[in-house]
Amino acid sequence: VLALHRHLSSDAKDVKTVTVFGAGLMGAGIAQVGAQAGYKVVLSDVTDKALENGLNIISKSLARVAKKAQPDDIEGYTKNVLANISTTTDAEKAVADSDLVVEAIIESIKIKRDLFGFLDTKAKPSAIFASNTSSLSITEIADATSKERQANFAGLHFFNPVPAMKLVEIIRTDATSQSTYEALRDVTIKMGKKPVTCKDTPGFIVNRLLVPYMLEAIRLVERGEATPEDVDTAMELGAGYPMGPFKLLDFVGLDTTSYISEGWHKNAGETGLPPTLVETPELLSKLVGEGRLGRKNGKGFYDYT
Ligand code: CAA
Ligand code: NAD
Repeated sequence: VLALHRHLSSDAKDVKTVTVFGAGLMGAGIAQVGAQAGYKVVLSDVTDKALENGLNIISKSLARVAKKAQPDDIEGYTKNVLANISTTTDAEKAVADSDLVVEAIIESIKIKRDLFGFLDTKAKPSAIFASNTSSLSITEIADATSKERQANFAGLHFFNPVPAMKLVEIIRTDATSQSTYEALRDVTIKMGKKPVTCKDTPGFIVNRLLVPYMLEAIRLVERGEATPEDVDTAMELGAGYPMGPFKLLDFVGLDTTSYISEGWHKNAGETGLPPTLVETPELLSKLVGEGRLGRKNGKGFYDYT
């Protein structure tokens, strides 16, 4: 039993290849910090266009990182990091050799469960599975995989922009093994991050506090009490936040914020979240309906083009 346990459990020294699903804002950043830490990274998405978008995000960010990491050989640094990243739209191939799978795809419980259910049958039994979900239950996502995999399953929640934000929340479910937790802790430290741990509760630590705050800022503007510009200035200069809530909403993505809020509101009865705290403001739905998704497509509460 001990030998079997040793075989199935993972530790950081076993993690060499990291697969990241989703080449958007978060997946691109996670792939980048993984590659910077020396891991072989496979970045996977559903279309070549999405992969191209991810590689663009990485190139822009790497230019900033390289200047600080290796000022006398920016080109060499960039080349070495990029050499650690390969891309594919083939999910099965993406996990064939993976020790750690980090999922950063659209915030939908169904799509995440479908992906992990599929990957469970394709990845090595020892591979650790982690979700970067902002708001969904890790237990519910992990439940799409086998009992054995559930011991190797956790939440690994990075923050946007990943290369600049130091924090990672590691979410342990009742099934997450100690060795899985320790492996994730060591991987995040190797990526230059500071891990904190949280139980599998809605929003974990940061989003449980941050999302209701952002939604309340929208309600304040909806009620006509202040402009987004003044709310941002107020929170930046009056509370010392690096970005006011509207700049932050645009940064996070209005679609992503709206998925979080809608999901929480729908399940408020079960999770005990106060429904009025997480209700989706009409203004948010309206902007998403108009295709204003935030900085990532050049328009949100503000225009960026
Ligand atoms: N790639 C690499 N480095 C970056 C970067 C990027 N995309 N963006 C910023 N940086 C680095 C800069 O190079 C700079 O580094 P140095 O100080 O070492 O030179 C540093 O970060 C600061 O950047 P800037 O001087 O350009 O600008 P800034 O001081 O205004 O900081 C910011 C930018 C870090 C984004 C800052 O505005 C900030 O912290 N904003 C709040 C971000 C935040 O709250 N994120 C969490 C969102 S919620 C979330 O992610 C969870 C969820 O599930 C929704
Ligand atoms: P995004 O919209 O920038 O990117 C999502 C990517 O996932 C897209 O490229 C899309 O093509 C891809 N995708 C969709 N379905 C897929 C599938 N089945 N297989 C592979 N790829 C697929 O979103 P994002 O902001 O990067 O968010 C991704 C995840 O990270 C979400 O769960 C989100 O809640 C979470 N998150 C977001 C932030 C943030 O600030 N934006 C912060 C932390 C966590």
